[in-house]
Amino acid sequence: MRQLTVALAGLGSRGKDTYAKTAKLFPEKMKIVAIADIDPAKVAEVAREYDVPAQRCFSSAEELLAQDKLADLMFITTQDRQHVGHALPALKKGYDLLLEKPVSPKLEECRELLKTAQACGRKVVVCHVLRYTPFYTKLKEILDEGTIGDVVTVMGIENVGYWHQAHSFVRGNWRNSDNSSPMILQKCCHDMDLLLWLTNKTARSVSSFGSTYLFKEEMAPKGAALRCMDGCAAKAGCPFDAEKIYLTDERTGVEKGNTGWPCNILTLHPTPESVREAIEKGPYGRCVYHCDNNVVDHQVVNICMTDGSTISFTMSGFTEQNSRFTKFMGTMGEIVADLHANTIEVQRFGKAPEVIDVSRLSEDFSGHAGGDNRMVEEFLDMLIEGREPARSMTTLEQSMESHYIALAAEKSRLEGGRMVEMEEMRTGDL
Ligand SMILES: NC(=O)c1ccc[n+]([C@@H]2O[C@H](COP(=O)([O-])OP(=O)(O)OC[C@H]3O[C@@H](n4cnc5c(N)ncnc54)[C@H](O)[C@@H]3O)[C@@H](O)[C@H]2O)c1
Repeated sequence: MRQLTVALAGLGSRGKDTYAKTAKLFPEKMKIVAIADIDPAKVAEVAREYDVPAQRCFSSAEELLAQDKLADLMFITTQDRQHVGHALPALKKGYDLLLEKPVSPKLEECRELLKTAQACGRKVVVCHVLRYTPFYTKLKEILDEGTIGDVVTVMGIENVGYWHQAHSFVRGNWRNSDNSSPMILQKCCHDMDLLLWLTNKTARSVSSFGSTYLFKEEMAPKGAALRCMDGCAAKAGCPFDAEKIYLTDERTGVEKGNTGWPCNILTLHPTPESVREAIEKGPYGRCVYHCDNNVVDHQVVNICMTDGSTISFTMSGFTEQNSRFTKFMGTMGEIVADLHANTIEVQRFGKAPEVIDVSRLSEDFSGHAGGDNRMVEEFLDMLIEGREPARSMTTLEQSMESHYIALAAEKSRLEGGRMVEMEEMRTGDL
């Protein structure tokens, strides 16, 4: 079997903690031969872990891209607004790409990347990892078999989770769309991609509403301090308190044994001491009512498809779980797909309901419900075997549609809910 060589650009949560690890899972299929990050500590750690020689360790993706082509493919896992700037030269150098989503918050960049990838004849797979999960694979199979006839209405919700909202979209990397992406693109391009893929439909028009309801100064409770650890009088009753989320919470707190995400975003190797220090001094200890965030905490999107069927989608930060729940209503029955419960309930009209327990279908649900590793393996297999993308694979062409819908939703939201035609996004004047 041919072993592919990989260059990793961006060694953060995705690059270092997710995709680098696949080199150990599939050693016969891939080897990391070059790495780049602006943080020397991350470069040193990955170099040590994966035996990358010093002359192949770079202090930025730009420096890596200034070299001759060093590997068969590149994983681009830098931040949202950097992806296209890194992907364009990589394509021109001849790399095939595993590209983190969102491709870009700028419509013109999305279009430019698509054009360049086509001109260079390279493969670009966007990391819509949920497609590869046992859950969505099974759901796709059921829908494609026509089990509920033609899908006419879909109702979907992404439950972001109150602590995830606070971590990523109020205090963290994706809090401000001027530096990252609108939330409906950053978080929900996955949902838009899944909804299109699962229904095999094309969107015609989109409208959307949403706002930052809670996480702003005027909503701060009486006595709230600027930082959670600075004697905040509202601390006891505040679920967004950094001490609860990062130190004491059963699910997320380092004191309860969680040394992975989200604690490892605060400090490279979380311990109760290092996390405490991070929330005392760093951005993740800021009061959620006093941050420089501007992204929404709730948004609804209505999509009319070209065949007249409709999708309504809600994203909400005000949920306990961070998971997805979707109801598909078809001409012959309905399906309730509950990712948190890992169940798919199929109700054919006039028949007994059938509940599929997806947890029985696989042993591996690690990393995005089992999607991360499967996606990388599928991508490697496609390149090794020189075949066309599998049914689950999200090519750049397909990914663009999810991005166009998300960007249309944001445009609509900013224009008070005006209906946006999808053709405007695909080919309209920029
Ligand atoms: N597919 C998914 O489900 C999924 C999940 C989470 C995040 N993401 C996306 O993945 C991307 C990375 O997210 P993350 O959570 O790993 O963020 P992160 O901040 O942990 O990682 C980004 C890394 O890029 C590095 N970097 C910045 N500038 C650089 C440069 N010029 N050259 C090289 N490295 C540079 C940073 O130092 C950091 O280590 C984001 O675009 C995010 O939206 C996708």
